[in-house]
Amino acid sequence: MSDLAEPDVLEIQTRLLDWFRISGRQFPWRQTCDPYAMLLAEKLLQQTVVREGVVQAYDDLLVAYPTPTALAEADVESIRTMIQSLGLHYRAQELVALTREISEKHGGCVPQDLKSLLALPGVGDYIARAVLCFAFGQDVPIVDTNVARILYRLFGLSGPMPANPARKRNLIELAGSLLPTGQSREFNLAMLDFGALVCKSSSPECDHCPLSPVCEFNISTTE
Ligand code: ADE
Repeated sequence: MSDLAEPDVLEIQTRLLDWFRISGRQFPWRQTCDPYAMLLAEKLLQQTVVREGVVQAYDDLLVAYPTPTALAEADVESIRTMIQSLGLHYRAQELVALTREISEKHGGCVPQDLKSLLALPGVGDYIARAVLCFAFGQDVPIVDTNVARILYRLFGLSGPMPANPARKRNLIELAGSLLPTGQSREFNLAMLDFGALVCKSSSPECDHCPLSPVCEFNISTTE
């Protein structure tokens, strides 16, 4: 972290959460704490941006297969048809493999610890942590490329961003040091939305950014 004007954690939390309450996005998977629904949403969002197609596929899958066991027993072709607008045909097979494992090894319940989640096929650090936080309410930091970019800018981190930031210990620790205990779900969702809507990779909206007074990137670009 830079020693120039180290941003105050409380101020970052307050500014970001205030912004999120007004400008955060609404998605159906944010209205549930069902871990299976959350896992499904994260698998559909993996390598896609949130689009109409993801919402539709998520709704259709949950209606047709309301439990991991129901999806585990589904015909792959039917799943493929439901997710075809996303252009990720191989994901149908992945969803079956994933839910089969949950059904066979975890009695049909999504596990609630990092190690067991990471052992599931097609579940990496990002998805495992997202499920722990968004579904199980655990205070765990979540880092994807968008969150890593915010951290790099906010704290003036130097060097190139890692190819897989979700596994970088220093970034996970830094993200963890910002989490407001008991409000991690809201804070992590705020980070995701902030990276998508304000602190974008190209043309970040520094002029309208609630974090600009405490951000190294804004300070260095306005000096
Ligand atoms: N809400 C929960 N997980 C999300 C994600 N990966 N992207 C956008 N919104 C989300």
